[in-house]
Parts: sequence; C-alpha cells; structure tokens
Amino acid sequence: MLDKKIAKLINEQVNKELYSAYLYLDFANYYADEGLDGFAHWYEIQAQEERDHAMMMRRYLIDNGVRVTFEAIEKPDKTFSSAIEPLNAGLEHERYVTSLIDNIYALAFELKDFKTMQFLDWFVKEQGEEEKNADDQVKKFKMFGYDAKGLYSLNQELLSRVYAPSATGPAM
Ligand code: FEO
Repeated sequence: MLDKKIAKLINEQVNKELYSAYLYLDFANYYADEGLDGFAHWYEIQAQEERDHAMMMRRYLIDNGVRVTFEAIEKPDKTFSSAIEPLNAGLEHERYVTSLIDNIYALAFELKDFKTMQFLDWFVKEQGEEEKNADDQVKKFKMFGYDAKGLYSLNQELLSRVYAPSATGPAM
C-alpha cells in the first residue's frame, strides 16, 4: 500500500506528464505552421514519450491499489515569435519536470518507500537525458539555426527521430 501523500504526488504527476505531451504538441503545431516539419516531428515524438511517462505512473498507482483520478489539463498558452523560442521553453520545462520528480523522490526517501524510489529511478535518469537533449537543441540552434542552410540541415536531422516506446521503463 502506498502512502497517501506519495500516491497524491504521483497522481498529480500523471496530469503534469499529460500536460507536457499537450505542451509539446503545441510546439509541434507552431513548427508545422512555420514549415519546419523536422522540428514538428521531433516534438510530436516528444509528446508521445510524455504520454508514455503518464501511463507508466498511472500503471504504478493502479498496481499499488490506488484509484487514479484525473483533473483538467492546463491549456498551453505560449506564443512564439522565432524558431528558437520553443526550444528554450522546452529546456525550461524539462528543468521544471526534473524538480517535480525530485520532490516526489525526496518524499519517498523521507518515508523509506524504497519501492517508489526504485520506480522513480527510471524517471530520474530519463530527466537527465531529456534535459541534455533539450540543452543540445538550444546549443545547436544557436550555432546553425540562424543560417538558412544550417536551419535546413537541422530540420532534416530532427526529421529522422524515431519513436521508441518507453517499454524498458517500470510497470508498463
Ligand atoms: Fe516526462 Fe519530459 O518529462
């Protein structure tokens, strides 16, 4: 049986992960509208990964006897005036998500809830990777994105991203 406080935080995180998916689809909408199909594609896949994260947490709660409840998903409300802005917003958002995962981990540690700590280990690692990816995106854009040929190459590179379900994560 999970501690009620832990269950509540993970349940809230399900909503945050679904919001992340919604946010990244919104980024994809912006890029699609700008004709940057590679950037749009990259964020469409990112949105699928975020949905996977939500599903993994939902499954963990269910497998531990918790009745999962859903709240409204916040509306993505960012407006962009240049192609680097969603990348910066993505990096900022991933840093925020890392802080949320860390908070849940800290509570699990305090409660000596080793099972949840082990469950969250996958997410701690994933956040490290996602922050690095987001940071790389920003850096690459700063180097190449302001030149037409560079932007074209970056767009082509991002178009090659392949969706890999997070099936190696816990409790699928
Ligand atoms: Fe599920 Fe990108 O955090």
